[in-house]
Amino acid sequence: QSDVGPDLAEVLLTEEQLTKKLDEMAAQIDADYAGKDLLLVGVLKGAVMVMADLSRRLHHPVQMDWMAVSSYGSGTKSSGVVRILMDLRSDLTGRNVLIVEDIIDSGLTLSWLVSNLRSRGPESVEIASMLRKPDAAQADVDVKYLGYDIPNEFVVGYGLDYAENYRNLPFVATLAPHVYGG
Ligand code: PRP
Ligand code: MN
Ligand code: MG
Repeated sequence: QSDVGPDLAEVLLTEEQLTKKLDEMAAQIDADYAGKDLLLVGVLKGAVMVMADLSRRLHHPVQMDWMAVSSYGSGTKSSGVVRILMDLRSDLTGRNVLIVEDIIDSGLTLSWLVSNLRSRGPESVEIASMLRKPDAAQADVDVKYLGYDIPNEFVVGYGLDYAENYRNLPFVATLAPHVYGG
């Protein structure tokens, strides 16, 4: 449809739908972590939008740290073997850690990341993700705060990229097949 530009097929989640879910997720996190310390860990680059929008809705005092990870292997899909490109600066000993992500696709990245962070002696490790593709799951990921389950289609926007583009869209959209050679 031309109203979202020639590269996009359709808007899957509007800015309003994202905002509504961010409000709900923030209220739950505030309630669950009342009286506890909380370290938000954003996974670069996709999580930047969720991190910025979720964290500013929290009344709870938090700290923020960032990791950048990359999947080994060929192709565009996650292989499950993950390499740390940039590690946390924080010591996780005794901390309550909440990983902030844009999407759980195969689940391989988060499955690896949760066990990696758990090995560092934190009090707890939980996950907040705006999106999840249930039909793409290859690994079990226990997500505590979830925005939306979406179909197994190529989506961009709100942090999600195709070849580093479209991350800055304020909504989530499906990519037109001609863009990725379909
Ligand atoms: C994307 C997305 C998640 C991960 C999900 O990141 O932001 O982090 O893939 O995929 P999975 O569940 O199949 O492992 P990507 O590796 O593309 O890096 P980016 O965040 O910099 O775009
Ligand atoms: Mn990512
Ligand atoms: Mg990406």
